[in-house]
Amino acid sequence: MQKKIKGTNDILPGFLGEGVFVSEFWQRIEEEILNTAGLYSYREIRTPIFENTEVFVKGIGDTSDIVTKEMYTFSDRSDRSMTLRPEGTASIVRSYIENSIMKKEPISRFFYGGPMFRAERPQKGRYRQFHQFGVECIGGDSAKYDIEVISLFWTLLSRLGLKDMELVINSVGNTQSRAVYLDKLKIYFKDKLDGMCKECKDRYEKNILRMLDCKVDGCQDILNAVPSIIDSLSQESKDFFNGVKDGLENLGIPYIISNRLVRGLDYYTETAFEIIHGGIGAQSTIVGGGRYNDLILQSGGNSVPAVGAAFGIERLLLALLDEGVISPVDNEPFYFIVLLDKEMEADAQKILYDLRLEGIPSTESDGSRNMAKQLKSADKSGARFAVFIGGDEWTASSVMVKDLKTSKQNEISFKDSYPLSVLTSFYNKLGVK
Ligand code: HAM
Repeated sequence: MQKKIKGTNDILPGFLGEGVFVSEFWQRIEEEILNTAGLYSYREIRTPIFENTEVFVKGIGDTSDIVTKEMYTFSDRSDRSMTLRPEGTASIVRSYIENSIMKKEPISRFFYGGPMFRAERPQKGRYRQFHQFGVECIGGDSAKYDIEVISLFWTLLSRLGLKDMELVINSVGNTQSRAVYLDKLKIYFKDKLDGMCKECKDRYEKNILRMLDCKVDGCQDILNAVPSIIDSLSQESKDFFNGVKDGLENLGIPYIISNRLVRGLDYYTETAFEIIHGGIGAQSTIVGGGRYNDLILQSGGNSVPAVGAAFGIERLLLALLDEGVISPVDNEPFYFIVLLDKEMEADAQKILYDLRLEGIPSTESDGSRNMAKQLKSADKSGARFAVFIGGDEWTASSVMVKDLKTSKQNEISFKDSYPLSVLTSFYNKLGVK
């Protein structure tokens, strides 16, 4: 038997799947993504699932975990290095520059979604193919855009019913003030390294800021006493961070500040933020994002400031299921055709086709000729009404329609008209479901 690749998942309809991997839950989230993106006037951008490896190495940073350990990189038939996208921002920046979008509008507001790929160790909430929804707001250097992005995610999660979420913010400053801080860290950790984990020792050499993200118990005392980045910020960065805090307070979005919040991608400047949830295990970050004022310039474009964020649909669903607040979208049919006379099979097929053409969700039994069995499948399908094709009523030019919730039967005459029109007006009269 062929098996799926470790860390990937099949997402199945509710009667076949379970938990996070039920397609009707995904559709509910996708519905809300489109609603909220619309509320904020963000427009969709779609970029390819693979890019030249360079796009990610330059964008995400060649010392980041993603680039050093987690990318699915392969050579194509002409021996060019390609990579399955591990995230969306680097590709969107590539597209922004390539399509000269900067010349077309001062502020671009994009949203995007789809599968991303990272060769991480799979566990609950962490997969090798996962699905992100993200937004990028490109062109604005004011804190109001950071607030816009954070509030967009806060709105989306709130509209989905999530409650137990926490917004954590920090500033990683601009390149200059960060350099001052990195020097402070070098000095602080220098004589403490012996007591720290292997990864911290590694990061000390390659990407010292990432030491702050270490979760190993034995390192926590040293990390908790680390100098605060905020104290090293330039006045300009401090003012910017205050602007973000004031903006959040103005909207009534609660936040906590964590000076140890440094994100796993190297492109962030100034604001870094996450929305976390206590009920989903070790992988508790649902949304991650921040400002990236240097990335477009570093990727070959002009100096254009930007801010964005993304969440993993799987993690969001874990949180929504933990709180018991998500219900699947309703894909159930309105009519279920029950065939009483075998000779009327062709008529039933035509009515079914016409109903669907009219936009009325309808289905039929899977082959059983026995009426009781057909009605049982009708119940199982979740259909609202059974429509009986054939029988004495039909001969007398009427169609029997049974309400599957109340068992009440309606006999509707279709004398002088085609049965479709009476079924359509019955549907319209009731309103959709
Ligand atoms: P990120 O923190 O790497 O940021 O990922 C954002 C979110 O994607 C995470 O908070 C998590 O919900 C989900 N995620 C990441 N890796 C996995 C995984 N292996 N399995 C399941 N879910 C995962 C970014 O990707 C940035 N591009 C966000 C951003 C946009 N920053 C600015 N603009």
